[in-house]
Amino acid sequence: MGRVLQLAVLTVFLALLAYQLPDLGNKLGIFEEAVPIEPGNCHLIKGIEYGSEDINILPGGLALISSGLKYPMLPNFAPDQPGKIFLVDLNNPTLKAVELRIARGFDVESFNPHGLSTYIEEDGTVLVFVVNHPQMTSTVELFKFEEEQLSLIHLKTIRHELLYNVNDIVALSSESFYATNDHYFFNDFLKLIEFFTVLSWGNVIYYSALEVKEVATGYGFPNGIAISLDGKYIFLAETAAFKIHVMEIKSNYMLTPVKSLNVGIGLDNLEVDPKTGDVWTGACLSAWKMFLNNPENPTGSEVIKIENILSKDVRMTQVYLNNGSVLQGASVATVYKNKLLIGTIFHKALHCELVSS
Ligand SMILES: *[C@@H]1O[C@H](CO)[C@@H](O)[C@H](O)[C@H]1NC(C)=O
Repeated sequence: MGRVLQLAVLTVFLALLAYQLPDLGNKLGIFEEAVPIEPGNCHLIKGIEYGSEDINILPGGLALISSGLKYPMLPNFAPDQPGKIFLVDLNNPTLKAVELRIARGFDVESFNPHGLSTYIEEDGTVLVFVVNHPQMTSTVELFKFEEEQLSLIHLKTIRHELLYNVNDIVALSSESFYATNDHYFFNDFLKLIEFFTVLSWGNVIYYSALEVKEVATGYGFPNGIAISLDGKYIFLAETAAFKIHVMEIKSNYMLTPVKSLNVGIGLDNLEVDPKTGDVWTGACLSAWKMFLNNPENPTGSEVIKIENILSKDVRMTQVYLNNGSVLQGASVATVYKNKLLIGTIFHKALHCELVSS
């Protein structure tokens, strides 16, 4: 982004801030004090330093992690390095991230991975759908995961005019998915106005080889998307409104609202516990501190677990909270057996042993 545009963005940002201070203070977490919470013993995962924005755990305990996201206005500690997909085997006593090699004619230099989702075919083939932003555009890359070779084989790049600012994705089959567009505008300046004002033009797109369409709309920065264990409901994180929306999947793939839950923080990705159906989310404690990116006073991390999301007795628990001294800007949380993995937009990744209750 050019200097002039940066200045313009900052000016509008400050003007909006002055105008809506009480509300925004809350929204940006300026006034928050974090009392740390840890669910058990926590350790950083070796080898992840530049983000772990989205995480998907395969049934056998292998976690796929997208790293190195470059996104307008957000910090990035390795701007000269392309993004990567890491593998972490959760069955090992000490967790270590291994970079997956990307084979077969894929432009690794411009790889800028964001949300990811996996789909396992009947013969066991693992497909990985990755939202990519090469040169700040939006594509969805489809890879085949080769566990033996520790590699990803690129199968195809999906581009579509309705997939204009994709954030996250959830695979429905080997060739269909739902994806969120977090902005309507392409231009950084307009995007920012969109985010900090009442414009809620983000949407959800259904994509298949046969049909591509908008299936839900009217959200402020729609972000993480996940599917319930029974495959009947979609969970959608609306970051700007601090909400999770539960929507029913209709036979034509349209999504109809069932209910909305106020989570009280700008939540990011959503993951569903494959055993219990609990929904887990990570959130950056203060968007304001993240934008300012002061190493002396970084943004913190929060993890929330939502139990019984489909019933009347929904229970939300703050499972992890840190002021940024350990983990900055959480974006995702997911569990495998008694292990909790927490990913971040631009920082490290953490693993905690959950103490069973
Ligand atoms: C964050 O918390 C740690 C200990 O929990 C504390 O030592 C540190 O001063 C806090 N940092 C900020 C910026 O509040």
